[in-house]
Amino acid sequence: MEKTTSVKETRQIIKDWKKQGLSIGFVPTMGFLHEGHQSLIQRSVSENDRAVVSIFVNPMQFGPTEDLATYPRDKARDLFICESCDADLVFLPETSELYPAGFCTFADMTVLTTELCGKTRPNHFRGVCTIVNKLFNIITPDRAYFGRKDAQQLAVITRMALDFNTDIEIIGCEIIRESDGLAKSSRNNYLSPDERKAACVLSRSLQAGRVLLESGEKDPRVLIAAIKDIISNEPLASIDYVEIVKADSIQKVDRIEDPVLVAIAVYIGKTRLIDNFVFHV
Ligand code: PAF
Repeated sequence: MEKTTSVKETRQIIKDWKKQGLSIGFVPTMGFLHEGHQSLIQRSVSENDRAVVSIFVNPMQFGPTEDLATYPRDKARDLFICESCDADLVFLPETSELYPAGFCTFADMTVLTTELCGKTRPNHFRGVCTIVNKLFNIITPDRAYFGRKDAQQLAVITRMALDFNTDIEIIGCEIIRESDGLAKSSRNNYLSPDERKAACVLSRSLQAGRVLLESGEKDPRVLIAAIKDIISNEPLASIDYVEIVKADSIQKVDRIEDPVLVAIAVYIGKTRLIDNFVFHV
């Protein structure tokens, strides 16, 4: 497995692979890799001749009061995981490599970012779109893999790839969960033992929502109220949002008719966690 830190050396390796006609899969990450990332890397390895992983904690997608400084980092462990998944190249740039002095161009998005995390994390998706666009330009993969836990991010990047005529197949991969239902996330690392137990309320409340939908409930207000009720009964939890939106446009619905995304963001103590599921009517 090769490791690079500069855009130049990364491009050289990619150029050599392309000359040989090899296909390239790409998994962008912010490191502190877990089984969710592992499943993306393994899929990328299995579907492409070469698999690239990037590890970069992107300052641009964090708000001023968010956890950029404390975001968990463990480079040695991340490299070990990439190697054991058979990745071919890990790109680990410094911030100055990707955002040199004078940097002033951004990729931004409207419509798909007005609800959910776009509402409560202003500028987050501007940061995500900008870095993913840059990484796409550097790696120029055939396929890029993203987890469905970040469902809005997946919708945003899929749309960005289409709007910018990016010749990359965007592939959404299933949410990987702990045995008690908690979706894997690097931020689970922040939770104290009590908070870790309390965090199960996310998947539990969504499961109750799914049961209601399966029983034929069509009113999003009823569903949202039921999910909020379960979360409110957990003393360590406070709700950021519980929303039901169209799965493709991420816009609110008045009635549940098309495929919908049921998405929640909940603070467990100080840690903000997200989870979701898509329901096909
Ligand atoms: O999902 C993430 O880890 C990040 O948002 C991404 C896509 C690597 C961009 O920094």
